[in-house]
Amino acid sequence: MSRDKHVTPALAYIRKLYAQEDALLSRINTTIFEEDQAIHISPEEGKLLHLLARMIQAETIVEIGTLLGYSAVWLARALPPHGRLITLEKDAKRAARTRELIAGSDVETRIAILEGDALQTLSTLTGQVDMVFMDADKISYPAYLDWAEKQVRSGGLIIADNTLLSGAVYGDRPERISPAAQEAMKNFNKRLADSQKFCTLQLPSQDGLTIALKI
Ligand code: SAH
Ligand code: DHB
Ligand code: MG
Repeated sequence: MSRDKHVTPALAYIRKLYAQEDALLSRINTTIFEEDQAIHISPEEGKLLHLLARMIQAETIVEIGTLLGYSAVWLARALPPHGRLITLEKDAKRAARTRELIAGSDVETRIAILEGDALQTLSTLTGQVDMVFMDADKISYPAYLDWAEKQVRSGGLIIADNTLLSGAVYGDRPERISPAAQEAMKNFNKRLADSQKFCTLQLPSQDGLTIALKI
């Protein structure tokens, strides 16, 4: 979801206790606000992703949509030293800026930034993974799910941001959402509701955050 404009006292309390940003996360956050679009996850969503990755002892995670590496850092810190967070970004400037931001940090060796269109890159990633976090172009989520269904191990996680698509999936008509994107996300959500294949919940965050355990 995009950054909450309104930080309630409860949220401030939770963030301070459990989702504090260190210098690196804080610098990435500031850089996003100064140089790019603030469409990254919130600190508590970052901590949730981190916690989920640790709960399944993830060693290999694929993230689709890097921006400037904010969620990547939360995820990478859940990995053991030999673990890898592979993050896919089509925008060359964003990929380069992310490399600069994480250079010399604790997570530099655990993050691999692969530049290019995610669908193209995914077709080259053939090994099994523990977790996928989708947060790029929403119209491609069904195609990303085709890949994730094959590559995520049983007991692994498929996580996706923005799965309410500004309300489009349940009938709102937000102007900037195309009918094709609306259909794509409805289809994506319906597929993850198959309890033979997944144990899923969509968290009612601002724009919906789906968590699916692959059975
Ligand atoms: N996960 C990040 C935010 C990602 S914003 C965080 O929370 O910190 C979405 C990103 O996806 C943007 O940087 C955009 O350039 C990228 N993106 C959009 N379409 C893409 C595609 N087809 N392939 C790869 N990256 C894509
Ligand atoms: C947008 C993308 C996101 O991933 C998000 O969480 C919020 C907004 C966007 O493209 O506008
Ligand atoms: Mg998002």
